[in-house]
This record gives sequence, C-alpha cells and structure tokens, in this order.
Amino acid sequence: PSITRILNLHDLERVARQVMSYKALAYYSSAADDEITHAENTLAFRRFFFHPRVLRAVGRCDPTTTILGYRTSIPVFVSGAALAKLGHPLGEANITRGAHATGIIQMISHNASLSSQQIAVARGSPNQVLFYQLYKHKNDVVAEQRVREVEAQGYKAIFLTVDAVVAGNRERDNRALFEIEDMERTAADNSATQLEMDADAIAVAESGGTAGALLARDDLDLTWQTTIPWLRRITKLPIVLKGIQCVEDAVIAAETGLDGIVLSNHGGVALPPIEVLYKLRKQRPDVFSRLEVYIDGGIRRGTDVLKALCLGARAVGMGRPFLYAQSAYGEEGVARAVHILEREIITGMRLLGTATVADLVPEMYLQMTPFIS
Ligand code: FNR
Repeated sequence: PSITRILNLHDLERVARQVMSYKALAYYSSAADDEITHAENTLAFRRFFFHPRVLRAVGRCDPTTTILGYRTSIPVFVSGAALAKLGHPLGEANITRGAHATGIIQMISHNASLSSQQIAVARGSPNQVLFYQLYKHKNDVVAEQRVREVEAQGYKAIFLTVDAVVAGNRERDNRALFEIEDMERTAADNSATQLEMDADAIAVAESGGTAGALLARDDLDLTWQTTIPWLRRITKLPIVLKGIQCVEDAVIAAETGLDGIVLSNHGGVALPPIEVLYKLRKQRPDVFSRLEVYIDGGIRRGTDVLKALCLGARAVGMGRPFLYAQSAYGEEGVARAVHILEREIITGMRLLGTATVADLVPEMYLQMTPFIS
C-alpha cells in the first residue's frame, strides 16, 4: 500500500511481513523459548495509566531532548539490531538516511550488514550523530581494534551489550537454519570483526539459527572488574551498558561511573524493562541523576515513550520497528515511523498537560495492575 496509508507502527510491521522472506521474518520476529517475555515487553505498558493535568498551556509543545548531550527531535533512538540487509538491499543505510531526515540518533549494531565505515559514509551530513553497539570479541586485541576503528570513524558513544553473551533459544530462527553464504552475503566487511568463521561459529551455524551464529565469537567472561576498566582504558567515548535487567546492576553501573544504561532484555527473557524502570524509580531514584537511563523492548506507541519518560527514562530505543520500516519502504519507511511517533508523542504530551519533556514526571502515571509492588 501507499505509505500515506501507514498510520502507526503496526501498519509498518504488517507490510514488512508481506514483503520479507521467511528467513528474514523468522530472524527479525522470533524471541526466546515460547516468546512469552517478548510479548510481555509490550503488554507491560498496558499496566500503566496516566494521571493527566489540565489547564496547562500546551500550544507550544516541544518533544526534543538530548541523549549523552546530543540533540534529538524526539526522545527515541534506534537500538542496534543486526542484519538490516535481510529485509532490504540497502540495509542500515536506510535507517541512517531516515534518521538524518528526521533528526534522531541511530545506534548501529556490531553485526550490521554494512560496515561501520559504510554507515558512517551514508550519513546525511558529517555532523549526524551515530552510536556504536559493541559485542566484545573474546580476543582483547581484536576487540580493542574495533573500538579504535569506530572512534576514528566518528561514532560518538559505545553501547556495550551485556545481556547476550549467548543467544536466547530462538526456535523459529533456528528452524530457518543459518547458512554460511547468508553470513557472507549479509555480514559487514569490518577489518576487525570480519566474520572469519572460526570453528565455534561454524559449529553453531551448522546447528542453529542466525542469532546463535552471530554471537559465536563473543567473550563469555565479561565482568565489572575486568571488562569495564579495559574499555575505559582504550576509549574516551561515553560508555553505556545495554542490557541491564535489575535494580542491583543499575546501581553498580552508577557506582562504576558509566555514562548510561539501557534497561533491556534483548527483546525478551526477563522482567519487562518498563517494570524494571518502575522498580528502579521507586527503590533507587538517586541512580537517575548519576547516569542516563534508557529502556528498549516492546515500545510501539508514543504513549509508551511518555510512560517511560514519566518514570525517569531519558529516552527509549526501538529495534524491530525500524527493521520492519526499512524492510517495507526503505528510507521513507524509517522517516514515516519517526513522524508517526512524533505526532503520537506531541498528542500525548498535550493531553497530559505537558509542554516539554522535563514536565513528564512520576506523578503523571498510575500503575494499575503491577507485576511487582
Ligand atoms: C536485536 N537486538 C540486538 N541488540 C544488540 O545489542 N546487538 C544486536 O546485534 C542486536 N540484534 C538484534 C537483531 C534483531 C532481529 C532483534 C529483534 C533484536 C536487540 C535490540 O537492540 C533491542 O534491544 C530490541 O530489539 C528491543 O526490542 P524491540 O524494540 O525490538 O521490541
């Protein structure tokens, strides 16, 4: 259908599902085991309701904010998700272009189908801000080289993923068996991350799906004591941990002096991130002034974004919606997704009686049927 018929992010997903291959769809849409927490990520937002305020001037409504000091048109960024070329021949460049056209920030995946250099070149202007999602290679030297390369290419922050030392059991993905040629066709030509198929990766690729094959080279022994000081030593860029899943680890991250955390369960294995955010706000409100807190997982509506901001999130990430948007309509689909979200966010802010993102405060929500108290 014509893109003007696309009214919300669900419409974009529906179109993408019609045009994508079985394998691409299995990879983009699958989640761990019975896919229960994946569904809960979205359902959890329905347990939160607003307490709007009235008689507050909202004629001028400004949804802009900053992430790590960089401006964004709405409090939403692209969460790095691998292999955009499975869905569209131009892959991540669609997202880079769409993000530029609409003023949001893209975090690119370590396992993007274009190299970090190709994506840097695809930017709409040299000032366009990109963040880099890192999976630490088990070999420190290779990992360090990757970090130094992306720093030189102009990436503005490192998002170290800590929740996926191995892949979840994604059975629909596994059924669409990963083939080595897919890896070569879709994987990036990064000098350091080049998917030189070591014995581990081949073993996983032959028995499992795409997700498992991509993670086979990664370090299983990440620790607070060794990994964080190592990364701090080799880069001056802000460091954000992606995949914090409980209050205790959020507190350690703040005490360790990190720049931010993404509360995320990698699309689904733990308590929904919005619930973790709620718990963190209640139990340790001090953390929010020590680092920036973001969440991702299951966010599909402007009101979901606003609920997260009311609870103290600086911004939210989205993974699948941008993969689907670019699969369905390329760069224009990505821009459409951002414009839809922007409209939904502004409408929601006005109905809440908020004119700026700073007005979104915990007093504006009510949790009706919490998982947790
Ligand atoms: C991901 N995600 C992910 N995360 C990451 O740190 N590195 C990666 O390479 C990928 N790859 C990836 C591929 C696909 C197909 C999916 C669905 C997800 C996780 C991603 O960054 C993000 O946390 C989730 O996608 C957020 O949930 P939603 O927005 O997809 O519901």
